[in-house]
Amino acid sequence: MGRKKTDRIIFEDIKVLDAGAKGVSVAKAPDGKVIFIPNVVPGDVVDVQTFKKRKAYYEGKAIAIKKFSEDRIEPVCQHFGACGGCKWQNMTYEKQLYYKNNEVFNHLKRIGKIDLPEFDPILGSAKQFFYRNKMEFSFSNARWMTEKEIESGEALDNKNALGFHIPKMWDKILDVTECFLQQDPSNAIRNSIRDYANEHHLAFFNPRNHEGLLRTLMIRTASTGEIMVLIQFFEDNKPQREALLDFLLEKFPNITSLQYVINSKANDTIYDQNVILYKGRDYILEEMEGLKFSINAKSFYQTNSEQAYELYKITRDFAGLTGTELVYDLYTGTGTIAQFVSKKAKKVIGVEAVPEAIADAKENAKRNNITNCEFFVGDMKEVFNDAFIAQHGKPDVIITDPPRDGMHKDVVAQILNIGAEKIVYVSCSSATQARDLALMDERYKVVKVRPVDMFPQTHHVENVVLLEKR
Ligand SMILES: C[S@@+](CC[C@H](N)C(=O)[O-])C[C@H]1O[C@@H](n2cnc3c(N)ncnc32)[C@H](O)[C@@H]1O
Repeated sequence: MGRKKTDRIIFEDIKVLDAGAKGVSVAKAPDGKVIFIPNVVPGDVVDVQTFKKRKAYYEGKAIAIKKFSEDRIEPVCQHFGACGGCKWQNMTYEKQLYYKNNEVFNHLKRIGKIDLPEFDPILGSAKQFFYRNKMEFSFSNARWMTEKEIESGEALDNKNALGFHIPKMWDKILDVTECFLQQDPSNAIRNSIRDYANEHHLAFFNPRNHEGLLRTLMIRTASTGEIMVLIQFFEDNKPQREALLDFLLEKFPNITSLQYVINSKANDTIYDQNVILYKGRDYILEEMEGLKFSINAKSFYQTNSEQAYELYKITRDFAGLTGTELVYDLYTGTGTIAQFVSKKAKKVIGVEAVPEAIADAKENAKRNNITNCEFFVGDMKEVFNDAFIAQHGKPDVIITDPPRDGMHKDVVAQILNIGAEKIVYVSCSSATQARDLALMDERYKVVKVRPVDMFPQTHHVENVVLLEKR
């Protein structure tokens, strides 16, 4: 459907008021409606052109900045604006933390509608750049043209790109030559692969026709210094594949694990694919407080390792364990929290839906000589039933770290039914966490809240809540 003329209105001298959901800022139009504007900072005064009009709001774009906010800073990355990755890079870190804290508070207050204790201040990340241990890039022969390139009017002869999807555009990839999220040699590896592929005329994936050799690249780095590189190929071309992988090994001899996937199906998820080891081992090791965790190509591991350590310490601290407790770690993933708290508990039971993650959890516990953790696979709302509790015992403390959607209502009901003394609820979505807390409010009181910033430069925020039985 074409864009209606009435969608395109220009409002002048609009003050940006707040940092809204999903990293998009909020202002008010002269008619009183909300305007959502990306890439601006609260406190800026801007001219806005709207491109979408809805009953209650507009979506717009700043076409001129009349006054710069005091909280605005120069973004460090040349890709800021086009890349959807670091929406808040133009805002001071202090203010990023302020808005994250606000979001958690507002969600718990407005959605949860519960009595809240005073918050412990949000814990910022020591590293504000280069904090991610995993990055995924896509190859495409449909490179995204930046505004500058379009304005220059020059014809682009090489349309190949290796980088990130442009938000909401499935077929367009931003060619990323620098990224401030993962430590080196991440940038060097990605850029070398692109250069090699261009020099040797390797075919970048064509997302429309579904053809080409190179599909995706994943790089994982660990605090131990170990590195995993996984290239996903669309076509099975052994000579080209091996020449590229050999080139990488020669240029980066410190790669611990070099793997690949040949995936010619429609989507590029590797989770249902056979991952083939080319050189080294099929995992890398991460270390935390003397515990070692092996991470394979498909494993989930918290993406900011150093801040994950802080998150886990807060979780353990909130749990207040003395060594006598039976602890349940719901949504345990690869059992990291379970193992992290195990020294201070009598026994820990971890439950998780992904069988591979539970296999990792068991393997890691063995590697770490931990004998008081047991792990079980299954969908939480099925596994976490009365028979399970009867078999494994009534927990004194429940730690729960569900995915973004929060807990299924049957799981909340079962937690209420069990009546453990303490619940520590770790969440990456304070909105769904607030909904779940409201359901538990009758029996549990929120006694501690501590937001944790795992993802500087983005609007995402983690939150840890301690609940005690009333
Ligand atoms: C936010 S992660 C937490 C992982 C872990 N606590 C950690 O810190 O690494 C959520 C986990 O819940 C698992 N999960 C999602 N839905 C589930 C379900 N219905 N039943 C059990 N586990 C589920 C995911 O596979 C994922 O490992």
